Amino acid sequence: MGIDSKQGYELVLVLDCGGRYNQLIARRIREAGVYCEMVPYSTPIKEILRRKPRGIILSGGPASIYSPGAPRIAPELYECGLPILGICYGMQLMAHDLGGKVEGAEGHEYGQTDLEVIATDDVLLAGFPEKIQCWMSHGDYISAPPTGFKVTARSALAPVAAMSDAGRRLYGVQFHPEVNHTPRGQEIIRRFLFQICGCRGDWSASSFIEDQIKASREQVGEGRVLCALSGGVDSSVAAALVHRAVGDRLTCVFVNHGLLRQGEAEQVRETFGKLLQVNLVYVDASQRFLGKLAGIADPEKKRKIIGHEFIRVFEEEAKKLGKVDYLVQGTLYPDVIESGTETAAVIKSHHNVGGLPEDMELELVEPLRFLFKDEVRLVGEELGLPEAIVWRQPFPGPGLAVRILGPVSADKLEILRQADAIVTAEIERAGLGREVWQYFAVLPSMKSVGVMGGERTYAYSIIIRAVTSEDAMTADWARLPYEVLQRISSRIVNEVRQVNRVVYDITPKPPATIEWE
Ligand code: XMP
Repeated sequence: MGIDSKQGYELVLVLDCGGRYNQLIARRIREAGVYCEMVPYSTPIKEILRRKPRGIILSGGPASIYSPGAPRIAPELYECGLPILGICYGMQLMAHDLGGKVEGAEGHEYGQTDLEVIATDDVLLAGFPEKIQCWMSHGDYISAPPTGFKVTARSALAPVAAMSDAGRRLYGVQFHPEVNHTPRGQEIIRRFLFQICGCRGDWSASSFIEDQIKASREQVGEGRVLCALSGGVDSSVAAALVHRAVGDRLTCVFVNHGLLRQGEAEQVRETFGKLLQVNLVYVDASQRFLGKLAGIADPEKKRKIIGHEFIRVFEEEAKKLGKVDYLVQGTLYPDVIESGTETAAVIKSHHNVGGLPEDMELELVEPLRFLFKDEVRLVGEELGLPEAIVWRQPFPGPGLAVRILGPVSADKLEILRQADAIVTAEIERAGLGREVWQYFAVLPSMKSVGVMGGERTYAYSIIIRAVTSEDAMTADWARLPYEVLQRISSRIVNEVRQVNRVVYDITPKPPATIEWE
């Protein structure tokens, strides 16, 4: 299932052979304005044709075509007249299936590589210089293309680094056009989409809003809908979209656990309650959470207490609302792809994030399940959500509790909130807000000696954490300009009571993590 071409969008399907860059292929295609979905390589040909794609991409993957269980596709796919682009493993598969020769190599061609363009009349590579850079990652290579194909590029370890059979509209590249390390890669993808598949480019995240409003409306009918609003981008955009679809039949529950950043709770209330006029149940449970957390130093215990208490509060509020039929979730396309299959449409309430009463069976409404994160942000902007919500940094569910090392207290929360607001304000003032992945303050439990106005002080330190990252799996400390660090430091020691020292965390992940607990 997915968005069908009957909904009007031109569609390109990526048959997923398991490569690490595959999500990037789909993103690049969408960036070019063409709607794209990734489906398993084993998707039956009948299903592929039913979707009426304009073209197919066979993705890369870690296997050798000679290894047992290597991804295979039905050979009839090459006969059905659709343009096909094979990338890396996908090209080897195509070569092998059509009678070319794929061989195991002694070495591995990995990283940025010189590509020698041989056929400058080839649609994908026309007009390119004789030598361009590309990103390679392969062991096996094609030693002879199938009959009917011409070799259009080569590299040191790939005598067939690109090939094409223009008559049958079958193309292959050994390198990865989807990664930034192939500087002309996006151009190659665009040529495939527009010149070979004949796409016009009718996709944009915002054109999708109306369709999803309609789809949510049809799904929900006269039912009542619940949404656990966290203030994060995904739940906020999902809620705003569903609100457009069903209006008053949506109720959002926003639990303030007292571990939010400065101004955060007010902003969510302002946006959803006042600006968008959503039915918003705001629960200030800060005292309850603080009580449960008192004296608890162990990070895992803190997390568990917060998670558990959150579910209790949400459950109590949901019960007060009476009968509810649907639950909005901000599931995104990468989650859908990663789960490998369709996530179940109906779940038992206790499996979901909200943790609703056991006897409640809710159907999920997931209006963002076809979007990538950057597209969600565009939709959020289009729906009129404020920039501060749309461009919000990732923020952990347990909030500031994992940034106060050791036991959490109201006093420490106040210190951390003030320091954090300064870190945020100064990084944004320097125009670095979108460049730096996450930036925040951490309050360790130690105190140190200082001197202020001739007096000895014994006060807390603040740690600044600012990292660059692509996906939070790995991260590096941000090379913040000294002037920015200097301003943050002097403002914190001057403005935040009980702090006399500021330090900067210069550890990448791994070995450290982004958060301190
Ligand atoms: P770490 O600290 O593991 O964080 O490098 C990776 C990313 O995940 C966020 N994070 C969390 N998000 N609940 C969340 O929803 C959590 O308990 C949690 N812990 C870490 C973190 O902010 C970073 O973006």
